[in-house]
Amino acid sequence: MGRGHGYTPASMIKQLHHIGIAVEDLDEAVRRYRDGLGLRFEGISEVPSERVRVAILFAGETRIELLEGVGEDSPISKFVAKRGPGIHHLAFEITDGQAEIDRLTGIGIQVLDQKPRPGAHGTKVVFVHPKAMGGVLTELVEVPK
Ligand code: CO
Repeated sequence: MGRGHGYTPASMIKQLHHIGIAVEDLDEAVRRYRDGLGLRFEGISEVPSERVRVAILFAGETRIELLEGVGEDSPISKFVAKRGPGIHHLAFEITDGQAEIDRLTGIGIQVLDQKPRPGAHGTKVVFVHPKAMGGVLTELVEVPK
């Protein structure tokens, strides 16, 4: 940050992992993306700790997660109530969540997790504050090897 042109940070980001889209009605959204756009549909799972139902689809290698809040106090429900349905976050694949927390904190980028938290399918995730990313909620996904 601020070190001028050509500076390559020691980030361990490997690739885009998924795009998270907040929806009001998951079944309707699946019809739109699977039957309308024709994306490959992997299935629906619930993540009770995040109070969310997730539909996973693929456009080629690119993973799309449709997110429906479970209950009014779900973060996704609150997002939809405040801003309407739409793109919610970008997620990048990393190798070491704790190292990223330490690195980002060290360069003044605010993270929402002091430790990686459990995500879906054995992953661990870290969220970066949207204000630190120009309004884009950013998730870092540590994928088990
Ligand atoms: Co996500």
